[in-house]
Amino acid sequence: MKGIVLAAGTGSRLGPSTLATTKHLLPVYDKPMIYYPLSILMLAGIRDVLLVCTSRDLAAMRRLLGDGSAFGIAIDYATQDHPGGIAEAFVVGRAFVADEPCALILGDNLFHGGGLRLALRRATTLESGCHLFGYRVAHAESFGVIEFDTDGETPRRIIEKPARPPSQFAVTGLYFYDGEACERCRSLRPSPRGELEITDVNNGYLADGKARVEQLGRGIAWLDAGTPDSLMSAGHFVQTIQERQGQFVACLEEIALDNGWIDREAVAATAERLRASPYGRYLGTLTDG
Ligand code: DAU
Repeated sequence: MKGIVLAAGTGSRLGPSTLATTKHLLPVYDKPMIYYPLSILMLAGIRDVLLVCTSRDLAAMRRLLGDGSAFGIAIDYATQDHPGGIAEAFVVGRAFVADEPCALILGDNLFHGGGLRLALRRATTLESGCHLFGYRVAHAESFGVIEFDTDGETPRRIIEKPARPPSQFAVTGLYFYDGEACERCRSLRPSPRGELEITDVNNGYLADGKARVEQLGRGIAWLDAGTPDSLMSAGHFVQTIQERQGQFVACLEEIALDNGWIDREAVAATAERLRASPYGRYLGTLTDG
């Protein structure tokens, strides 16, 4: 399976911090935001990644992530200069996807917790249709929200940012699709807010009886980091977990090593380059003994 990280957009809710750079390069505690969604694709076992960002940020993204070989993956790049919607990822990414199964993750989404790797592996076994994740949130009106059938269990449709949410279950920014996603996105029309809506794609799959929606339990944290408050909360979350456990969240080299995609020597080289930082010192501990 392939994977796309969508990291364009204006980041206007984080201005002025995003006037000169993308929010996806801002730190969530001790590493750039983009590490978190990338780590999720890697945990899902995906090595073929397309990173979508604006032309303005392309050079900086490349400087940070390169061709992905430091993390045992291959990263291609594509650009989206106007935020034409999340589903546009499959328009600008059409050649990369080449009608193969593909995951999509939003560049400001952070997932962490027990059972996550298993949930990801389940999603990648998808043979046809799409696999979405639902997550209970206190303020559903900011998200795509699941409306259930009268049985209270079967998803009927997803409503994008409803004024009156039909449930407390939001659709997260992590989506797994079969090889039809590009074709389905090609026939989409922009919504009233002028975007190709991923919710329309998902509703298409639901209407065809081809959508699996898995609820992520309370043991898994799902955060986004698109506003000053949510960015700060995400940073505190990562700091708290790392301090308590002594294990890092979204350490790309650690995941790659664990997956057998890079060797200890490669990790040691990065550890040496980053030795002045806690992240670099953590990498050093992975290669000891
Ligand atoms: O976070 C999950 C939610 O993400 C879903 O529940 C919603 O259904 C989905 O529409 C989306 O809502 P948001 O309002 O959070 O999307 P936002 O416009 O903030 O964009 C999320 C990320 O995607 C952000 O990292 C920027 C990137 N993006 C977004 C758009 C619209 C792009 O790169 N290009 C775009 O055109």
